[in-house]
Amino acid sequence: MRALVLSEVKAPLKLEERPPIHPAEGEVVVSVQAAALNRRDFWITQGLYPGIQPPVVLGSDASGVVSKVGAGVNESWLQQEVIINPGMNWGDSEEFQASDFNILGLPRDGTFSGEVLVPESNLYKKPKHLNWNEAAGLPLAGITAWRAGVTQGRLAKGETVLITGIGGGVATLALQFCVAHGAQVWVTSSSDQKIQKAIDLGAEGGVNYTRENWVQELIQKKVSPQLIIDSAGGNSYASLIDLASPGGRIVNYGATQGPPKKLDLFKVFWKQLTLQGSTMGSPNDFQSMLNFVNEHQLTPVIDQVYSLEEGNEALASMKNSPQFGKLVLVVS
Ligand SMILES: NC(=O)c1ccc[n+]([C@@H]2O[C@H](COP(=O)([O-])OP(=O)(O)OC[C@H]3O[C@@H](n4cnc5c(N)ncnc54)[C@H](OP(=O)(O)O)[C@@H]3O)[C@@H](O)[C@H]2O)c1
Repeated sequence: MRALVLSEVKAPLKLEERPPIHPAEGEVVVSVQAAALNRRDFWITQGLYPGIQPPVVLGSDASGVVSKVGAGVNESWLQQEVIINPGMNWGDSEEFQASDFNILGLPRDGTFSGEVLVPESNLYKKPKHLNWNEAAGLPLAGITAWRAGVTQGRLAKGETVLITGIGGGVATLALQFCVAHGAQVWVTSSSDQKIQKAIDLGAEGGVNYTRENWVQELIQKKVSPQLIIDSAGGNSYASLIDLASPGGRIVNYGATQGPPKKLDLFKVFWKQLTLQGSTMGSPNDFQSMLNFVNEHQLTPVIDQVYSLEEGNEALASMKNSPQFGKLVLVVS
């Protein structure tokens, strides 16, 4: 089987022929149909991620068919169409992950490969209304968006929500989840076209954060969000504190722009804000997210589809974030 392997950082992934994988006790092999990219894969190739240990097959997201099961695994999984929860060893608490929590695709070999080995407990049935590419786009972005918006963000029907950087894979799914929950969603983006796409998905409107007065524009539109879902951080974080409604929650699942240079704690305590972190999600988060996707027949937005051979091209395209939604590699 073929696999895209990271053999050194800041160098293209290598397409290698690898021997078939055999599952140990409690594990299964999934024949991968499609894999999706996450910004994590890009950070790893750039050497900007902790614990990089080449050689490793990257990729945290996949849809596929269970082709082999190890001892002790329920054989009814064989030939089932599945998606994989990429979070390994979440642990016992719903509040936070265990110290040995890790993500498929580093340190464990990931999904940019004809076959991937995972514990049985990470398998979930593929939503029937999604094709292989759409299903591959769901797991990592879906669980992150769900926990940020619903579990940690405590999203409630009718609330006003602001989602920053709407072109991102997680942000796009967060928009879909919030709209389906009956929230009034506003977005920011570097692209007016992406704002229009967000409106097409049910957003009320948005502003372009590359314009100097984007915060004023939101204030003029009387956008006072009870919940802000952000992965940019950086200097614009101060503006999110200004924009949040008194008593509001700001949930961060990323800091693409790095840490904020200053944090006005006076505004934080006077406005009674909650500043909340969020990472991936528990198995219960994954199941709840999947139930919601099935119930509302939600479909992740796929921006571009590449072949496995084009994996480096797909990764390179992430540098300037031209996408709206997910980038997918067709593997089989
Ligand atoms: N904690 C977790 O569990 C977790 C999980 C997944 C991702 N993350 C992190 O979350 C971030 C996004 O991940 P992703 O996979 O969704 O990435 P992605 O699909 O590559 O999207 C990145 C998006 O970030 C937006 N962005 C960039 N600079 C911005 C700024 N100054 N202000 C507002 N938005 C900005 C852009 O939106 P526009 O194109 O609309 O301008 C871009 O499309 C990354 O930092 C990633 O490492 C964390």
